[in-house]
Amino acid sequence: MNIQETLKQLEDALRKDLEGVKTIEALQDIKAKYLGKKAELSLLMRHMKDLPNNEKPAFGQTINQAKQAFAKTIEAQRNRIEEALLNKKLEKETIDVTMTSPDFSQGTAHLLNQIIDEIEDLFIGMGYLVKEGPEVESDERNFEMLNLPKNHPARDMQDSFYVSEDTLLRTHTSPVQVRTMLEYGGQKPVKIICPGKVYRRDDDDATHSHQFMQIEGLVVDQNTSMSDLKGTLLAIAQTMFGKDRQIRLRPSYFPFTEPSVEVDVTCSKCDGEGCAMCKQTGYIEILGAGMVHDNVLKMSGYDPEIYQGFAFGVGVERLAMLKYGIDDIRHFYINDLRFNKQFK
Ligand code: PHE
Repeated sequence: MNIQETLKQLEDALRKDLEGVKTIEALQDIKAKYLGKKAELSLLMRHMKDLPNNEKPAFGQTINQAKQAFAKTIEAQRNRIEEALLNKKLEKETIDVTMTSPDFSQGTAHLLNQIIDEIEDLFIGMGYLVKEGPEVESDERNFEMLNLPKNHPARDMQDSFYVSEDTLLRTHTSPVQVRTMLEYGGQKPVKIICPGKVYRRDDDDATHSHQFMQIEGLVVDQNTSMSDLKGTLLAIAQTMFGKDRQIRLRPSYFPFTEPSVEVDVTCSKCDGEGCAMCKQTGYIEILGAGMVHDNVLKMSGYDPEIYQGFAFGVGVERLAMLKYGIDDIRHFYINDLRFNKQFK
C-alpha cells in the first residue's frame, strides 16, 4: 500500500478515536497508541531499510511530518478538554458575593494595651519619647534615687516584692525616669513617658492587684512650671474622658515631687452634677503628679538651679475601669474572651 494512503488511514482512525474523548487520561492512551514506540507510525519507520537509498530521505520526512501533524491534532483535543474542564469548574465554583459570611472571630488588642496606645499617641504627638525598662529593679533606682531612702516611712505606700536584699519587682515605672536622667547625664532636657508593668504587695480584690500597668511621664527642662503640668494633665483627662472634661488639683504628698498633687477629673457620667459613680462629689480621682523634687534632680545629675521638671503617674486599669464602668480589676487578667471582645 502506498505510504500516503496508510498515513491517511491512520489519521482518520486517530480523528475517530479522539471524538468524544473527555478526559486527559483517555487522551494519553490515544497519544501512546498513535505516537508511542509501538505505534504503527513508529513501526513504519522500520521499512526504511528496505528502500533504495535515494528514497530514504523523502520517506523519513513524510513519516516525521505525519508525526508532527498527529501531535498537533492530539494537542488541539487536549486544549478542548482542558477548556471544558475549566468551564465546568468555574461554573461549579461561582461565588455568591451577596452571601453573608460566617463570623470569623478575629483577635484584638487587650483593652489595657489599647489605652496605653491611646496615651502614647497623645504624648508622641507632643514630642515625648516612649521609654521602657526592666521589671526587676534595684532598690536604688526604684526608691533611693527617688528620694525614698531606706527606712523612709513613705516606702509603706508601695509595699514590695524583694528578689534579693537590694533588688525588687519595681513598684512603679519611675525607675525608668531615673535611668533616662542618668543616661542624659544632666545635660539635656527629658521628655518621656514610661508605660509598663509594676508590682505591689497588695491582696487582690475588686480594686487591688499585686500586678498592674502604669504610665508615668517626666519632663525636665529649663522654665518648666506647674502650669505646663496642668495643661498636660488636662490633655490626658480630655483624651481619655472627652473634650468637655475639666480637672482640679488637690495638694498631696509624694516623696519624689514637691509640690505634689492629686488630680481629679469632672465625672463623665453626671458632668460634675454628682452621681453614684463620683459618690456625689462631681469629681473622680485619676492620677498623682507634681514638680520633680530637687533631691531627685540632683541625684540624677541635674542642677535644680537650671532645670525644673514635672512628673505624673497614672494606673492604666483605673483609667479603663472609669472609662468603661468596669467593676472588677480582675477582669483584665483572667482572659475571658467574652470580656475582652467587648473592646474591639
Ligand atoms: N510613682 C508614683 C506612684 O507610682 C506616681 C507618681 C509619679 C506620682 C510621678 C507623682 C509623680 O505612686
